[in-house]
Amino acid sequence: SLGLKTAFLGRTIHYEESVSSTQKIAHRLVTDGVSDGTVVVAEEQTSGKGRMDRQWHSPKYSGVWMSVILKPNLPPPRAPQLTLVAAVAVVQAIEELTGLMPQIKWPNDILVGGKKVTGILTELQADSDRIKAVIIGIGINVNQQYEDFPEELLHTASSLAIESGKPISRASLIQSVLSRLEKLYITYLQNGFHPIKLLWESYAISIGKNIIARTLTGEIKGKALGITEDGVLMIEQEDGAVRQVYSADILLEND
Ligand code: BTN
Repeated sequence: SLGLKTAFLGRTIHYEESVSSTQKIAHRLVTDGVSDGTVVVAEEQTSGKGRMDRQWHSPKYSGVWMSVILKPNLPPPRAPQLTLVAAVAVVQAIEELTGLMPQIKWPNDILVGGKKVTGILTELQADSDRIKAVIIGIGINVNQQYEDFPEELLHTASSLAIESGKPISRASLIQSVLSRLEKLYITYLQNGFHPIKLLWESYAISIGKNIIARTLTGEIKGKALGITEDGVLMIEQEDGAVRQVYSADILLEND
């Protein structure tokens, strides 16, 4: 048992030894009609999904690979805000359990010492005006050592154990993420996105810096001004025009 102290998040947990992707399981559960707050956790994913069709390396027993199903009564354009709610929850949980100071790279990468330790993938089931369910996939690299990472990730990714120099309890981490996520989610539903935006900005690294946003259709270069009340990134280009970016990979210039 995880000893959860939450009211509804994770009251039902589907625990799996090995799955292709917890996102895939969660989508199926939504179709079957599960309750709000259901969580899927796996020890291993054989084809973990990242953003933009990438893979997410999810080796056995070394990370937190989970999907959280939320059923807010909101219009679909508000779903990206929930990614930011989840990012704040994960940052706070990592701080609490490791003493590390994680930072967020818009929209959803969590970095420690400049290396990615967590990715968040938010997917939707919705019709045109209502969200049926939001599936928030959270992948945290916890106890991997250097040799557990594929060569191509070594320069950009790390784990909490590597960064803190000690093993971290994955059960405690799940418990902390879920209880913080529940609190923040309730705040979000009651008071809107603004309080979350302020917290999120306090952890963000790219704001105020010159960045390059790689979108599916091209690159946008300029200064990251902040996020809008919708959670969309604003970039001021050299010509002064301000662009809004909904989905992209962010590179800090001079990186
Ligand atoms: C990213 O940064 O590209 C997002 C990575 C999201 C990974 C998590 S692990 C749990 C859930 N299941 C998946 O297949 N992906 C997400």
